[in-house]
Amino acid sequence: MKRAGLEAILADMTISEKVGQLLQLAPMFYKGTLTEGEITGPMAEMGITQEVSERAGSVLGSATAAEMMAIQEEYLKTSRLGIPLIFMADVVHGYKTIFPIPLAIGATWDVALAERMADISAREATAAGLQVTFSPMVDLVRDPRWGRVMESTGEDSYLNSEMAASFVRGYQGDATKLAENHEKIAACVKHFAAYGAAEAGREYNTVDMSMRELYQHYLPAYEAAIQAGSKLVMTAFNVVDGVPATGNEWLMRDVLRKEMRFDGVLISDWGAVKEIVNHGTAGNAAEAAEQSLRASVDIEMMTTCYLENLEALIADGTVAVGLLDEAVMRILELKNDMGLFEDPYRGLKTNPERQKVILSAEHRAAAREIAADSMVLLKNEHAVLPLATEKRVALVGPLAKTQDVLGAWSWLGDTRDAVSVEDGMFAQFDTVDVAGAASTEHITEAEIAEMVRVAQNADVIVLALGEASNRSGEANSIATIRLPEAQYSMIDALHKIGKPVVTVLFNGRPLDLHGLLEKSDALLEAWFPGTEAGNAVADILSGKVNPNGKLPMSFPYTTGQIPVYYNHLSTGRPADAADAQEHYVSHYLDIPNQPLFDFGFGLSYTTFDYRHLTLSSDTISINQPLNISVTVKNTGNIAGKETVMLYIQDLVGKVSRPRKELKRFEKIMLAPNESQTVTFQITEEDLRYYKPNLDFSSDPGDFKITIGTHLEAKFCLV
Ligand code: BGC
Repeated sequence: MKRAGLEAILADMTISEKVGQLLQLAPMFYKGTLTEGEITGPMAEMGITQEVSERAGSVLGSATAAEMMAIQEEYLKTSRLGIPLIFMADVVHGYKTIFPIPLAIGATWDVALAERMADISAREATAAGLQVTFSPMVDLVRDPRWGRVMESTGEDSYLNSEMAASFVRGYQGDATKLAENHEKIAACVKHFAAYGAAEAGREYNTVDMSMRELYQHYLPAYEAAIQAGSKLVMTAFNVVDGVPATGNEWLMRDVLRKEMRFDGVLISDWGAVKEIVNHGTAGNAAEAAEQSLRASVDIEMMTTCYLENLEALIADGTVAVGLLDEAVMRILELKNDMGLFEDPYRGLKTNPERQKVILSAEHRAAAREIAADSMVLLKNEHAVLPLATEKRVALVGPLAKTQDVLGAWSWLGDTRDAVSVEDGMFAQFDTVDVAGAASTEHITEAEIAEMVRVAQNADVIVLALGEASNRSGEANSIATIRLPEAQYSMIDALHKIGKPVVTVLFNGRPLDLHGLLEKSDALLEAWFPGTEAGNAVADILSGKVNPNGKLPMSFPYTTGQIPVYYNHLSTGRPADAADAQEHYVSHYLDIPNQPLFDFGFGLSYTTFDYRHLTLSSDTISINQPLNISVTVKNTGNIAGKETVMLYIQDLVGKVSRPRKELKRFEKIMLAPNESQTVTFQITEEDLRYYKPNLDFSSDPGDFKITIGTHLEAKFCLV
């Protein structure tokens, strides 16, 4: 439909119909629904009548094509103007074929894989009738107490930005072709803004940071998703500079819409409009509605402040009808861009065959490959890994047999489709004896005794442990980032046997690994790998795949070290620059300053040698970019992938600058003895940063480059 057509619809709409478009409801409020939908927030007393559901403009969390078609068909029967509903849900790391959690996708450092994951998610989700996914979540995270770190790609704004753009490209493809391309889904980047900085890692908590920090580190990944064409943005639950994001006119109008030039649909998070009252910046629901509309929030998710108040606010002149029209127009445009006026079922009525792609062999194969590439080898003493498949393996621990390996935010995935570690190991190893445990939180003496018995007969112990999937994700903050306590006596009992222990760790967040690390000969961080978990674990343990993931988030030494992240500022008294005996430096008495495992860390079964760091010049200027080359050689005897990372430090700035900042990375594959020269181009723009007055510019002067563990060079911006 042409813009004039949408304008004609808008002109024809009553105020009540317009307000209806702004409401998003769960599918349970519709006739013909089969499921309850996805519930992630309070639902109480919404007072939704049939008349209201017939006016609402969008649906949250429908699950199948049949459900979507039933709701849409019924809805259109009563829709005076024939404006279709639009169906949205959280497809965060896959629809039915579940991929590793986003934090693990970050650990692949492979933007092509991220794009493939999003492309497959889009194919499956659209075949199931969804039109918008509430993904990517690109909140920068530095606090693993927060359960939602599993949904982010980590602690670095550059890695997050690259991943954000890849997710969006994979979901949407060419955003101007969504009307025809029914296998693509609209993306919704979230949570705008800075939700990852919830104080003390406690869910829904306050956020407070300087404007410079917000612009420098927290905003870039949202902006990258918007530049990649994300059709929607979701507001955050938190305050930004004291004002709830959802009613924050400065944040949404000035930053999001003007500075970032976002002109798509802005949706509140679940109940976030009403929660402005709880934040204490609106006295009642009417004020919350007014603030949100002024802030340009177009859709109110799952509360009814707009529905109950906008008509009156417009009638008494508090709110101009133009503000409402603006919001409705953006929603109509989104529906039109998705081709819903032409085909409200996006091809599903005419081509039910499309559903066959769901959980196809091809999708499962991609999930397996991505899962294996996301695993991070943290320790491998005496090259205990890879394991010869003839070895007699004792597979023990609470994650040995379970199919609870999908991770949080996989509500449409089915654990029954998931490959357990046990099944993955059976498929590749000759002899595997298994002793599991029914829970990650309570492990009985009898279960431990059986594990010990099985382990005594084995050549090697594979210990599968960690968190249950519902220990991370939304509303799952923990105060101490350790394993559930019950697992430590199990670890001790197995360690005492004296056989090599290979630990496979499942978790949605960085953990303090003391008590496990020193008792494991090898430690593989498996995250939550998704549907193909067991196969991917076996691929790594057998050496079929050489581990190549690298941490996208630091693993703190202990909870009290949080926040610890790689790109922190120098202090006035840095401990590392001082005499080791010096007391009055920035340090702890009881732990080191360094995290247990750094951002970017990850071992391989082979070794890589970095040589010949070469700069095209020792200066850079606005007109003359700089090429930085390094030669990487596989010096071991198996093929492997390596992520080459380029870090830069601005030695003198107008504000204190990070000790190093990731500026480029590239993942390469090298056969034994093969070398490759990787060249990164840096421009003056890459050296810009936010000054005290928020001016974004660079300063002439010296910069330091670091590549690999030991190569360094300097150049000068002139
Ligand atoms: C979460 C969002 C999610 C929404 C809809 C909220 O509770 O914060 O990330 O998209 O629910 O399920």
